[in-house]
Amino acid sequence: MQVSYHGHSIVKIQTNGKTILIDPFIRGNGLTDLKVEEEKPDVILLTHGHNDHVGDTIELAKANNSLVVAPNELAGYLGKQGLNVHPMGIGGAYEFPFGKVKYTLAFHGSVYETENEVINAGNPGGILFFAEGLTIYHAGDTALFGDMKLIGDRNTIDVAFLPIGDNFTMGPEDAAYAVELLKPKTVVPIHYNTFPIIKQDPSTFAELVKDSEVQILNPGEEVKF
Ligand code: NI
Ligand code: MN
Repeated sequence: MQVSYHGHSIVKIQTNGKTILIDPFIRGNGLTDLKVEEEKPDVILLTHGHNDHVGDTIELAKANNSLVVAPNELAGYLGKQGLNVHPMGIGGAYEFPFGKVKYTLAFHGSVYETENEVINAGNPGGILFFAEGLTIYHAGDTALFGDMKLIGDRNTIDVAFLPIGDNFTMGPEDAAYAVELLKPKTVVPIHYNTFPIIKQDPSTFAELVKDSEVQILNPGEEVKF
């Protein structure tokens, strides 16, 4: 399995012959190395409906006939736009041919905004992804919450992607505490420095983490297993 980070909350997973993009916010993402025209995702996984996560999903999915896995209400909206969708809810898991996906809690908001409408995108989530004997956790946008201990107790997380940008999500101190609850082997900070309001020095986070390896990835870099 190859897992790479592409700025803000974008994670790319290549496994079982498939390319999976999580939260493909490419246009308007000043940090990303990706280009919409060059990406060919078989699958798009969405944590929640905010535009900095849904991003270019509609264009990418139409161009590549991608399967879009999303929280139920968001999947309903995207299905009406003609996309091939698979709706899921918090706590639910589903075994896809490319791997297993399970939605976790996230404490955050979730609306999707178009030029004319504000769409209720349901509950925001985090994503556990299981394939090739590895467990990846993408927390989405979230506050620190105590049930991260449940997630950590019930899963052996190889890599956790956690937001550290503060303001809209956990900041470095809360994210470091989340690492204690989740007990991942490796943690990768995400959702920072995309905009001035979420500016952070990821080394501050790295210094606060005690028992897990921190990998600070530049956009385009792969997780080292
Ligand atoms: Ni958000
Ligand atoms: Mn966000």
